[in-house]
Amino acid sequence: MREVTVPLQDRSYPILIGAGILPQIGERARQVGIRGAVAVVQDAAVSEWYGPQVRQSLEAAGYRVVVVEVPSGEASKCLDQLGRFYDAFAAARLDRTSAVVALGGGVVGDLAGFAAASYLRGIDFIQVPTTLLAQVDSSVGGKTGIDLSAGKNLVGAFHQPRLVLADLATLETLPRREFVAGMAEVIKYGIIVDPELFAYLEQNSEAVLSHQPDVLAHLVARSCEIKAEVVGRDERESGLRAILNYGHTVGHAVEAVAGYGRYLHGEAIALGAVAAGELSRRLAGLTAADAARIEALLARYGLPVRLDEELPEAQLFQAMRLDKKVREGELRFVLARRIGEVYTETVPEPEVKPALAAIAPARNQSD
Ligand code: NAD
Ligand code: GLY
Repeated sequence: MREVTVPLQDRSYPILIGAGILPQIGERARQVGIRGAVAVVQDAAVSEWYGPQVRQSLEAAGYRVVVVEVPSGEASKCLDQLGRFYDAFAAARLDRTSAVVALGGGVVGDLAGFAAASYLRGIDFIQVPTTLLAQVDSSVGGKTGIDLSAGKNLVGAFHQPRLVLADLATLETLPRREFVAGMAEVIKYGIIVDPELFAYLEQNSEAVLSHQPDVLAHLVARSCEIKAEVVGRDERESGLRAILNYGHTVGHAVEAVAGYGRYLHGEAIALGAVAAGELSRRLAGLTAADAARIEALLARYGLPVRLDEELPEAQLFQAMRLDKKVREGELRFVLARRIGEVYTETVPEPEVKPALAAIAPARNQSD
């Protein structure tokens, strides 16, 4: 088992990574000091496979356990589900010694995390991520929240978990498309800070895609180390943490304009990473060869690098103007000087157009 620490002084916490470690959850919760009853908030799609192990382990460690099931999918990150949790927590008489365990992907992690951040003005929580995206990204760093009809993640709080327990064996049941989408965030870590990780991903794609245990453990642990270091230096995203959003300015716009669900989050981020690569080539000195390496690596993992149908440019710009990095109406991008070195920069809208052209649908020869 590997262990990575998120360094936040008295709120530091461990990320435990290994195959088959789910049954340790009870004992690990004790080790990090959880005392009271535990509410397990679990994705309905995984509850049958992993719910019983988690419940048994917590009960064996002496916890009173209440289980709240959530329908799968982004639509659950909403006020209605949150209200349902508060009612369930109150009915189960959770108090300030209690904790919430989030068992599922980023949807359940964000939602259960926000319920924990707000119930009784904040109780403890533990992340048990079961998607690759959640294991390498969303379960680490304390961003929690829900969506509104006006947009994604518009209501939320920073609330760090006490523990993240990532069981790599849970990835065996994850649909391949979801696994591949998570790889977009792993590739992102290579682009933003770690050329060695990037090269490792180039050299080991078959081993990654066939879930070779040591290779998976390495890339999840390395991703968590990178995210932990960034979060440790800039928890509230006053500067550095924004680099984690490489590819997200265009990616979020693609997700919104295409209609949520059309592209998975990671797929949209892959498109955004290609657009940011083109922008970096034009504005930040990224070589054409490195921009091509980024695109080739995304494609090698089966991620989209071109839109499959045209999206209206005006709508993409409108969506980009809602990006949380926008300052005084100006679009900001994470740009790469080279693979492994990025910075954040304001980019005038006309200069963004060639980046959008870089992900335009491939035209038929006959067009
Ligand atoms: P998700 O939680 O919707 O999970 C994807 C799908 O996989 C769902 O259908 C789920 O039921 C299923 N699933 C989960 N684990 C499984 C398993 N082990 N086996 C089989 N099926 C399984 O999506 P996600 O990609 O994990 O997360 C996306 C969410 O994360 C978005 O809401 C996004 O906004 C959020 N996010 C948050 C942060 C953050 O820092 N808080 C960062 C990135 C993304
Ligand atoms: N996923 C970006 C962040 O956690 O800051």
